[in-house]
Amino acid sequence: MRRFILAITGASGVCYGKRLFDYLQSRAELHVVLSERGAELCNIELDIGSGYFARENVTVYKNSKMNSPIASGSFPVDGMAIVPASMGTIGRIAGGVSSSLIERAADVMLKEKKKLVLVPRETPLSAIHLKNLLALDQAGAVILPASPAFYQGPKTVDDLVDFVVARILSQLGVEHDLLPPYRP
Ligand SMILES: Cc1cc2nc3c(=O)[nH]c(=O)nc-3n(C[C@H](O)[C@H](O)[C@H](O)COP(=O)(O)O)c2cc1C
Repeated sequence: MRRFILAITGASGVCYGKRLFDYLQSRAELHVVLSERGAELCNIELDIGSGYFARENVTVYKNSKMNSPIASGSFPVDGMAIVPASMGTIGRIAGGVSSSLIERAADVMLKEKKKLVLVPRETPLSAIHLKNLLALDQAGAVILPASPAFYQGPKTVDDLVDFVVARILSQLGVEHDLLPPYRP
C-alpha cells in the first residue's frame, strides 16, 4: 500500500484536504497532521474535529510532536500534500524553519527529493508570498493553487472541489476517476 503524509493548515478551503483524505483513506496508508489553525478551520468551515481523521490505515499526529516517524528522512513515504497550505506555513517551509512537525516533514520531502504538493489559498498574493512560492518551486515542490476550472461544466461545489483534488491525486501519482474526460 502506498504511504502519504497529508497536512491541513489554517487557510480557507479545508474541504479540499478533507476530500483528498476521504478519497485516499481506503486506498493508501495515511499520516495526517493538522496545524492548530487547520483544526480551527475544519471546525469553522466543515464542522468536524480532528477526530474525523482517526480511521483505519491512518495515523494522526500532533503538530507539536517533532519526535514522530514522519520527521525523519529514514521513514519511507511516497509523498506529502499540504491542503490547504496557509501563507504562514508556506513562508516557514520556504525559510527552512522546521519549527513544527508539518514544516519538518515538508523539509524532509525537499531534502530527500520526494514529491511535495503545496495547495495555497490566498488572494491577492503579495511579493513575499510570490517569492516564497518561487523558492519552494525551485526547491522541488509542486505549487498547485486551489484554483478550480469551469470548462468541465461543474454543477456543484463538490465538482469544483473534485477538480482541484483530481490534480493533487495526479501529482501524487494516484489514478482516479474524479474528472470526466477532457472535452476541448
Ligand atoms: C477564518 C480564517 C481564515 C483564514 N484564511 C486564510 C487563507 O485563506 N489563506 C492564508 O494563507 N491564511 C489564512 N488565514 C490565516 C492563517 O490561519 C494564519 O496565518 C495562521 O497563523 C496560519 O497558521 P498555520 O500555517 O500554522 O496553519 C486564516 C485565518 C482564519 C482565522
